[in-house]
Amino acid sequence: MLLSAQIQLAHFILLRCVSKLQSIFADMLGTACSWMGWLFSPRTRAAGHPGARAALAERDSRAAQRTPTPSSVNYHLTRKCNYKCGFCFHTAKTSFVLPIEEAKRGLQLLKEAGMEKINFSGGEPFFHEGGEFLGKLVQYCKQDLQLPSVSIVSNGSMIKEGWFKKYGKYLDILAISCDSFDEDTNKLIGRTQGRKSHLDNLFKVHSWCRQYKVAFKINSVICSFNVEEDMRENIRQLNPVRWKVFQCLIIDGENAGESALRDAEKFVVDDEQFQAFLDRHAEIQCLVPESNLKMRDSYLILDEYMRFLDCRGGRKDPSKSILDVGVENAIQFSGFDEKMFLKRGGKYVWSKEDMKLDW
Ligand SMILES: C[S@@+](CC[C@H](N)C(=O)[O-])C[C@H]1O[C@@H](n2cnc3c(N)ncnc32)[C@H](O)[C@@H]1O
Ligand code: SF4
Repeated sequence: MLLSAQIQLAHFILLRCVSKLQSIFADMLGTACSWMGWLFSPRTRAAGHPGARAALAERDSRAAQRTPTPSSVNYHLTRKCNYKCGFCFHTAKTSFVLPIEEAKRGLQLLKEAGMEKINFSGGEPFFHEGGEFLGKLVQYCKQDLQLPSVSIVSNGSMIKEGWFKKYGKYLDILAISCDSFDEDTNKLIGRTQGRKSHLDNLFKVHSWCRQYKVAFKINSVICSFNVEEDMRENIRQLNPVRWKVFQCLIIDGENAGESALRDAEKFVVDDEQFQAFLDRHAEIQCLVPESNLKMRDSYLILDEYMRFLDCRGGRKDPSKSILDVGVENAIQFSGFDEKMFLKRGGKYVWSKEDMKLDW
């Protein structure tokens, strides 16, 4: 009896040992298999070489950077202008304007890539063909492409009432640039043509915007000539949907440097001066401030050839044209900072239907 109990105990211990050994062996086998799999995967083999390791890291980092969506695009269709603002950072270096069918093709490519808002700028966008070229593109973007938002930024001096009659219904927002409510300051800046009054034009266009139901916006560049001004009363009177207030920006090759057509150094204001202007106007609810930091890389800018302009180096370096290489390829060279675009409030209620305006 004693012997039989001892045999049973020995048998039990033996079984436990075998089972333990089996489990240890199975673990070892599993680990070995997974190491072998990793070791012989194409990625691991490639990573064995230092050059390949760097390439993989670069590929991973590129994959992490998502291609930005061109939801809001600024198309500077011409560089020509009838004004001579001394600080201007988009100067008349060429007189080229795309044929209209090519411009439309580019706009369609942008729509297919995700564009929701187009802003036409320049130079003076009403300069070419007395505003007809611009009007046809505005109509095309709203009627054919059905973009939620179509806008223009203009100095306001070349707009006629007939233009509003013909194209006003296709336009969501018209921004008129006004840097001062003092005509002498406008003359000093160069925001004028001959003896014509910039402010008369501003108020005339403002009333047409109401009449033809286009949302009215104002852009002001804060520079050494207007930094002390108090614009509160005039802005309240005009009551724009948005008042963009820019700190005067310097771009090498445009308004600074040897190859530039302008020298804007004397217009520059520092961050403290700009902030003092903002503080003075803090009660104006529609004010949207844009310091140099916010402005530089947060716009998708297309030039007259539909090339994205990369401002990261303090210059405007062009990509290839979207008409030649497509939007997805060209946008990689735009320098566009999508996060800053969102941070500066680049997405807002931009269709006039959604603004619920009291015309
Ligand atoms: C280049 S302009 C073209 C459109 C039109 N000619 C006008 O003046 O509104 C587009 C916008 O850029 C602004 N701008 C021009 N030069 C600037 C600069 N150096 N810094 C900041 N904004 C500037 C203009 O005041 C305008 O609101
Ligand atoms: S109006 Fe002034 S800011 Fe606009 S493009 Fe002409 S010179 Fe430049």
